[in-house]
Amino acid sequence: MSEGLFDRTAGDVGNILALEHVNVTVPDQRAAERFYVDGLGLTRDLDMDFGEANIWVNAGSQQFHLPTAPRGQVLRGTIGLVAPSLDRVRRGLDRIGADCEPGPGGSLLVRCPWGNRIRVYQAGEAFGAMALGIPWVELDAAAGTAAGIARFYGSVFEAPAAVRPTPGGAVARVGVGRHQALVFRESDDPLPPYDGHHLAIYVSQFSRPHARLAAAGLITAETSEYEYRFCDVIDPDSGEVLTTIEHEVRSLRHPMFGRPLVNGDAPAPSSTGMGYGGRI
Ligand SMILES: [Fe+2]
Repeated sequence: MSEGLFDRTAGDVGNILALEHVNVTVPDQRAAERFYVDGLGLTRDLDMDFGEANIWVNAGSQQFHLPTAPRGQVLRGTIGLVAPSLDRVRRGLDRIGADCEPGPGGSLLVRCPWGNRIRVYQAGEAFGAMALGIPWVELDAAAGTAAGIARFYGSVFEAPAAVRPTPGGAVARVGVGRHQALVFRESDDPLPPYDGHHLAIYVSQFSRPHARLAAAGLITAETSEYEYRFCDVIDPDSGEVLTTIEHEVRSLRHPMFGRPLVNGDAPAPSSTGMGYGGRI
């Protein structure tokens, strides 16, 4: 009797439950901390001490991982960041002398010292319950690839994936958990070579995507019982490589799943939007 009253597919969540961290190397830890902590107002993860090798920075339930390396890696796209007070972020960025550009929806676009683009938004209704965190990572993609990329995440990860046209090219949006997304935006601009940066996702069903990726010869690392990796995103019909970015795929049994992350004076854990009843 109630058929048609609601779009029940709008309540579907696919197999990717969380986009947990973005990993880009940095040549200078002090400069990285100045940007991410002093500038953006995020909180260094003091529970993980890597000495001079790496720093991790908490952004709500997500993190930036910043291993030390001679060259800074640059994600081919833009990282979204939601903050409880955009004014505070603006003041922090002013204080460190970072250049900001105003953007759509009152957002601020800022670049890290090595060129990573981060678009910061004031928390609000558009981001659900996420008051602080990384709601999406948008990746530049070659013209004509968005539909195939959406089919890849749909067939391998059972993720809700939709393609919409825009004046600049098609955009594929892959749903992640309750409030996150991986977004692939087509562009005619040539992509720079892939430099090895990565992102990490948690999946509920761990073995099914592994079997599909393995069958296609796409697994690049069998890291541990809790983690595997792949890099190439292919058209599931033709096998053509559509884009490349390393995915660190973690199971919910990963020892770090659900680890509490300290976030300065950020809102309470229940409002970080992941729906697990706590921070991860
Ligand atoms: Fe990682």
